[in-house]
Amino acid sequence: MVPANVIEDLKFRNNIEDVIASYVTLSRSGSNLKGLCPFHSEKTPSFTVYSGDGHFYCFGCGAGGDVISFIMRMENLDYRAALDYLAQRCGITLPDDDSRERGGVSRQRVIEMNRAAAKFFHHMLMKSEEGQAGRDYFAKRKLSGATIKHFGLGYAPNSYDGLKKYLREKGFTDEEMVAGYLCQRSRKNEKNIYDCFRGRVMFPIIDVAGNVVAFGGRVLDDSQPKYLNSSDTPAFKKSRNLFALNYAKNKKEDYLILCEGYMDVIALHAAGFTGAVATLGTAITPEQARIMKKYTDKVVICYDSDEAGQKAADKAMRLLSEVDISVRVIRIPGAKDPDEFIKSNEPYGAVRFREVIENARTPFDYKIFQTLSKYDISDAEQKVRAAKELCYAIADIRSKVEQDIYIRKAAKALELDAEGIKADVRGIAKRRAAAQKKKDREELLRNTARLGDRVDPDFAKEKRSGALESTVLGLMLYRPEYIQLDADKSLLDPEMFFSELNRRLYLKIRECYDSGGFEFGMLSEGFSQEEISKASEMIAKRRALSNNGEAAFLESVEALAMEAEKIKNRGSDADIESVIERRRKENKN
Ligand code: GTP
Ligand code: MN
Repeated sequence: MVPANVIEDLKFRNNIEDVIASYVTLSRSGSNLKGLCPFHSEKTPSFTVYSGDGHFYCFGCGAGGDVISFIMRMENLDYRAALDYLAQRCGITLPDDDSRERGGVSRQRVIEMNRAAAKFFHHMLMKSEEGQAGRDYFAKRKLSGATIKHFGLGYAPNSYDGLKKYLREKGFTDEEMVAGYLCQRSRKNEKNIYDCFRGRVMFPIIDVAGNVVAFGGRVLDDSQPKYLNSSDTPAFKKSRNLFALNYAKNKKEDYLILCEGYMDVIALHAAGFTGAVATLGTAITPEQARIMKKYTDKVVICYDSDEAGQKAADKAMRLLSEVDISVRVIRIPGAKDPDEFIKSNEPYGAVRFREVIENARTPFDYKIFQTLSKYDISDAEQKVRAAKELCYAIADIRSKVEQDIYIRKAAKALELDAEGIKADVRGIAKRRAAAQKKKDREELLRNTARLGDRVDPDFAKEKRSGALESTVLGLMLYRPEYIQLDADKSLLDPEMFFSELNRRLYLKIRECYDSGGFEFGMLSEGFSQEEISKASEMIAKRRALSNNGEAAFLESVEALAMEAEKIKNRGSDADIESVIERRRKENKN
């Protein structure tokens, strides 16, 4: 166990405001900071950072914790890796912990192993006999040797142990191969592992620091699944990485191009569009939008021309606009995706594509274009529907000046009076604001209830005890001097806690306290992020109240002791009568 004083020091050196500010845009709100929560999607900020005591809490989704649990969530790291990450960030080294050798696989090891695997795949593609299939495939897709080399593409032989044998020779263990998603355990015999990627061309995914963090692999025919991507590993979180950002960050142009597939990105880079990146087989996430914002203020969305691609484009527009990126959208003419467009226009693929980019539309012009191609506005009824759709879209725009510009544009496109459109837009905005407010409230209630039930199923069974337990634990976490008070006077007893989660929290606090000191960060070892969020919620409740004095603590402890006694007695001599009596009372309340 890393001692409390080391954790305290680490947290002191990694100011929670600074750490979180590198992921979330924060603005001051009284003595705290607020921003849009990185753990759920929201439009009004409910994510709060309490710099004073080093905590964060989201009133929308209930996520909470300290700087350590924040990093664990954001960087997808385990406890020890998060401590190392923070230590490295402030330039100190933590005392070594032998449990690390026995326990989880470190990010560093997975990265070393991925580098070896990338070499293996590349060598297989370039030099091996079975690599012929891969070479033929890339030749068919018109990739040059230079491009293959630039992206470090590879080939995974069609065998169950090609990579496994190679990695074993290089000193990597089975646990490491499984943790890094290069091998998986056999279902028949847990002890056996076999290669995940077989008979596929391989695309290494490289982070901006140049580490190979994951792989994507494509089949050579039309079998399924077409692409296989690494799952999240100690070195990789799908929602936080973009393919080719390692190159695109040094782009020539001042914009990034967001596309759907690996092959699109590769074709674009080969044609000189070095700002192309792709999300990894999923819709763009808010995290990816923020990451892009680090490298550019302009993004051209260039998704597939099919319906799915266009839908995804709508979402990308919204998420990128939310982080103040100025967005343009392309609808690729006469081809399914950018790769196909460039190749079918050879030898002018690059020239034509540049024209397409130059004619990219703003999100709203794109919306008008989409709407006009959907409706026949010479028909009155369809014109009304088109107008309605555009009004809703305009109501989404935050700036009133921008709204006015688009109201005029829409009026012109639909041959309607601008004043009428304006009135409709304002009406929609008003109704929406009211509905959003209601929805936020409902969602908050629903989320906290759901989180409570799932994470702490015992809470609902004994609500009164649950509330007292939260008060007592909340006070101990909020004012650590009560931990000492409890220890000095032997006030509490684990048996008093009805909820299993609360009992574990109490035991952990005591265990840490008795062996040298308790620090909130120590909960990150042994408790899930959701459980830590529960603990943060208890603190958040205390923070909002003013009666946090010693008297309040002692009173709650006493009430909890009495409640525990009541539950115990009820359990032991619970004859039918008393159960019925209790039910009746509960129903009345
Ligand atoms: P090509 O057919 O090789 O040109 O593929 P593409 O790059 O055009 O990909 P497509 O438009 O079919 O899909 C876009 C992206 O979604 C791919 O690059 C993958 O990252 C991902 N993807 C596609 N198919 C699958 C699949 O079956 N499973 C998973 N996990 N991801 C997929
Ligand atoms: Mn394609």
